[in-house]
Amino acid sequence: MSQDEVKQLKLYLEFLQEGGVEYIPKGSHPSPRAEEASPLPKSADTGPLEEARELLGDCKRCPLWETRNHLVFGEGDPHAQLMFVGEAPGREEDLQGRPFVGQAGKLLTQFLQGIGFSRDEVYIANILKCRPPGNRTPQPQEIEACLPFLLKQIQAIQPQIICTLGAIATQTLLGQKASITRIRGQSLPWRWGIKLFPTFHPAYLLRNPGQKKKAYQDFLQLKEMLETQG
Ligand code: URA
Repeated sequence: MSQDEVKQLKLYLEFLQEGGVEYIPKGSHPSPRAEEASPLPKSADTGPLEEARELLGDCKRCPLWETRNHLVFGEGDPHAQLMFVGEAPGREEDLQGRPFVGQAGKLLTQFLQGIGFSRDEVYIANILKCRPPGNRTPQPQEIEACLPFLLKQIQAIQPQIICTLGAIATQTLLGQKASITRIRGQSLPWRWGIKLFPTFHPAYLLRNPGQKKKAYQDFLQLKEMLETQG
């Protein structure tokens, strides 16, 4: 390894450490260029996901369209084994039209890279596709209008595991109230043979950095589950 490569690797490990990644499991092969690394082989059939996007169109099914800059559909591998579902786009996501690209997104990316995944090897979406003004909590009518499209995305992707980020995503997909602190880090049977795996929302971790260690443990467990399920 050249001196430049060592320097680059050091910077990359510092980037992960800053997010709370203290341990990288064997076989994760983190790379300073992980985002550029060639993705896992994918099937070419992205039809069902594209259909879901077309059905959604220039959505005006709830009032959030009036204040949005961009609708944030979701992004990543259309055949990902691992899917993340957050709450709703924030300011940066609304500006860019991409999920988890602000500070919370940076932390999610750090955790992902810690377990050896790049963002484009997973799929990232939200319960809502438009930003609630001032990042307020999603309203039940907004969730009701948006959820059918997330379910279509999930059916198209058919992930093995959906990692729900935070209480809103967890409770919405579970269809029941549940304390995230109590149920995080557990694999829960869901529909279509998919497992739900709740963890803390990265924005909560930014406000409560003392919980990052537990959250990263959840990511390590996710990696193990994917490896044992093949
Ligand atoms: N928080 C979320 O729940 N989703 C995003 O895309 C960004 C921040």
